[in-house]
Amino acid sequence: MNETANQSSGNLVLDRRFAWAQAAAHEGAHAAAAEILEQIIAEAPRWAAAWFALGEAREKAGDHPGAILAFQHLAEADPSGLLGADLHLARLGAGAAPARAPDAYVRGLFDTYAARFDAHLTGDLAYRAPQLLNEALRAACERGRQIFHFPRVIDLGCGTGLMARSLSPHFDDMQGVDLSPLMIEEARRTDLYASLHVGELATFLRERPAQSAELVIAADVLVYLGALETTFTEAARVLTSDGLFGFSVQQGDAQDWVLGQDMRYFHSRAYLTRLAATAGFEVISIDAASSRKDAGHDVPGLVAILRRA
Ligand SMILES: C[S@@+](CC[C@H](N)C(=O)[O-])C[C@H]1O[C@@H](n2cnc3c(N)ncnc32)[C@H](O)[C@@H]1O
Repeated sequence: MNETANQSSGNLVLDRRFAWAQAAAHEGAHAAAAEILEQIIAEAPRWAAAWFALGEAREKAGDHPGAILAFQHLAEADPSGLLGADLHLARLGAGAAPARAPDAYVRGLFDTYAARFDAHLTGDLAYRAPQLLNEALRAACERGRQIFHFPRVIDLGCGTGLMARSLSPHFDDMQGVDLSPLMIEEARRTDLYASLHVGELATFLRERPAQSAELVIAADVLVYLGALETTFTEAARVLTSDGLFGFSVQQGDAQDWVLGQDMRYFHSRAYLTRLAATAGFEVISIDAASSRKDAGHDVPGLVAILRRA
C-alpha cells in the first residue's frame, strides 16, 4: 500500500489488530486477514487504510465481489484518491477507469518511492526508457539532417532526472515538471535542470508560452494518463515548428487506452497516430520497444518521436 496513507486509526488497540491483519496477509492467510480487518472496520468505519487492506485481502482470498465492496467504501473514505480506489475498481471491472490517475495517488506513490527509485528501476526492473528515447532522438536528428542538440527542453514527469542525465550534454536549458515533490528534490540534485516545478504536466504545459521549446519529452510518464488529447495539443502548442515530441508508453492495441492490472495505462499505436495527426505532428518513428520488466517479463511498449509540422 501507499506508505503515505494514514496507517493509524488513532486507537492503539485497533492499530495493533491492524498489524496482526498485515502479518496474516504477509503470511498468505488472506481470509484470516480479511476477518480481522472486518472487525476493525466495525469500530473504525472511516479508516481508509483498513478499507484498502480489506479490499486487497478479499481480492487475494478470491472474494471478488467483497473486494469491490471494500474499494467502494475506500472511495468514500478517501475522496482525494490517494489510495487509488477508482483505479482498483476499474481494474476489477466495477467502473470506468478515470481519464488519468488521480494527482494524490501519483504524488503519494512517487513520494514514497523517490529515495529508492533509481536503484529499483534501473536494477530490478531493467528500466531504460531514457536510453531508448535518447537513441530514437539521435536517429530522428540524423534522418532529418538536424544537429542532435536542443536549446530548450521540457521534461514532463521528470522524476529523479534520469532523462536529463541520459540527454546531457545535448541540450542547453531543460525545465522539469513532476507531481511528486520528493522526486523533484532528487532531480534537483542532478544540477542539470534550469528550473523544476511541482505540478501536473497538462497544467504546466498550458501555462507555457507558445513555441517556447524545441523538445518535449515524456519518459514512462504517459502510462499514468489514459486520455492523451490535451497532452498532445499542448505539446504541439509549446513546440517551435520542427520541434520534437518524444515519449514512451505501454502498448495495448485492443482500445485507444485501457487501464492495466498493473494500475498503469496502455495505449494503442492507432490512437497515438490519430492524436499526432489531429494535433499537427508528423510521425517520425513509433517503434516497438520495452522500457521495463514486470515480474521478470518485458512489458510491451512503444517509443515515439513526432515532429511539429
Ligand atoms: C516512472 S516515473 C519516470 C520518471 C522519469 N521520466 C524517468 O524516466 O526516470 C513517472 C513520473 O511521472 C510523474 N507523473 C505521473 N503523472 C504525472 C502527471 N500527470 N503530471 C506530472 N507528473 C506526473 C510521477 O510523479 C513520476 O515521477
